[in-house]
Amino acid sequence: MQISLARQVALVTGASSGIGAASARTLADAGAAVVINYHSSAGPAEALAREINANGGHAIAVGADVSKEPDVERLFAQTLEAFGSLDILVANSGLQKDAATVDMRLEDWNTVIGTNLTGQFLCARAALRIFTRQGIRQGVSRAAGKIIHMSSVHQRIPWAGHANYAASKGGVDLLMQSLAQETSHQRIRINSIAPGAIRTAINRDATEGAQEQKLLELIPYGRVGDVEDVANAVLWLASDLSDYVVGTTLFIDGGMSLYPRFRDNG
Ligand code: BGC
Repeated sequence: MQISLARQVALVTGASSGIGAASARTLADAGAAVVINYHSSAGPAEALAREINANGGHAIAVGADVSKEPDVERLFAQTLEAFGSLDILVANSGLQKDAATVDMRLEDWNTVIGTNLTGQFLCARAALRIFTRQGIRQGVSRAAGKIIHMSSVHQRIPWAGHANYAASKGGVDLLMQSLAQETSHQRIRINSIAPGAIRTAINRDATEGAQEQKLLELIPYGRVGDVEDVANAVLWLASDLSDYVVGTTLFIDGGMSLYPRFRDNG
């Protein structure tokens, strides 16, 4: 089945690489005009926009730090300026600053919460302001707007040495559910995706060489995920095929959140 997002506009944050870039490419392939947000990697984001435009799609790259309110306001203003509307937000920007808690600097706590949680709040708020003003665009989508929060299996699985990251993703879970409860009567659909170990720059150390074998002990399905595994779910959640899906989290993790070590122990 061909999923069409024709005449829809999608904004993907943190889209210069990894899950964000794959999501932007997949949404563009389905016909959406795409805003590729990046923080510091202008080159790859602009290259992706060029690639999409060369393939007959519509894309622009816009730099903005999602943890900064004025940057977020400018990002959404530029989206409307370029494409006239917004239908889909993929709040994807995220980072890790790992350390044992006794060694964790306040700066590393604040940076992670700032991007992963505050950034998702600021972007969701900006999107909701547009969606409520815009309403349902007849013939374009059954919903007045869709938000997909990029969470993590660590919204559920505690993670020693990554307390800032796990706390940010636990926060994303209840941010998402609260926003969905607040806005679904306006026909706005808000959901999360919780990826497990996906092969990207964020976890290169854990997914390469001998470390990969160790990681696979945590993944019953027996492989590390690819960015397309997540991008395909982004496409489904952004489309009307998931029109009755509201306020839920889709785990895309090869079974990592099933606590596989309990299979033959406990
Ligand atoms: C993290 C990765 C990690 C995965 C599974 C993700 O949210 O960003 O570094 O490999 O969770 O633990």
